[in-house]
Amino acid sequence: MADSSEFTVSRRGVIVGGAASAMAASAPAEAQTKRSTMPADPPAMPVTLKVNGKAQTLSLDPRTTLLDTLREHLHLTGTKKGCDHGQCGACTVLVNGERINSCLSLALQHEGDSITTIEGLGTPEKLHPMQAAFVRHDGYQCGYCTPGQICSAVAVLDEIKRGVPSHVQADLTARPQASGMEMRERMSGNICRCGAYSNIADAMADVAGAKA
Ligand code: FES
Ligand code: FES
Repeated sequence: MADSSEFTVSRRGVIVGGAASAMAASAPAEAQTKRSTMPADPPAMPVTLKVNGKAQTLSLDPRTTLLDTLREHLHLTGTKKGCDHGQCGACTVLVNGERINSCLSLALQHEGDSITTIEGLGTPEKLHPMQAAFVRHDGYQCGYCTPGQICSAVAVLDEIKRGVPSHVQADLTARPQASGMEMRERMSGNICRCGAYSNIADAMADVAGAKA
């Protein structure tokens, strides 16, 4: 037989229970008010990008980043999302030949721009020289950072060739050389969790015809 104390309800219990039911009843109404005061999504806007040599016209929420456009709308998943905050370089792509962190850039800012992703650098049958050098020198382990590393490495050698100065140059007016220090400094925005840095430096030196 059940103990009568099982059915005893304390005054405090009644008050707490009542308050909880009152809160539960008012919650949907509050959520509704909040929803109705939230600003509506902005209307989609058209943009045309030239991605890996092909014109792509899209209608996008103006807040869409270039990274999400490439991955979610064009299904070019070679470009990786690491931090999504401009800190790891995994999302590096080339825009009109210059490297950028695609997570920090809105697609709509790139009307008419020429975007090159890892898929557009080379093909499995005909690798870009930098892709081939990464394979030769084992410049990756898990490979997650690799597309960004390769796009960045291609741009770095181009920057050095064009004489774009860097922080490690003693003389900013002198022509930069493809030295190990120069290449490492310029690649410092591309993080590799696996620590494949020395092999990446070897791969870049190989393509540059220099010493890592
Ligand atoms: Fe863009 Fe990390 S995902 S810098
Ligand atoms: Fe794994 Fe760079 S190869 S993060």
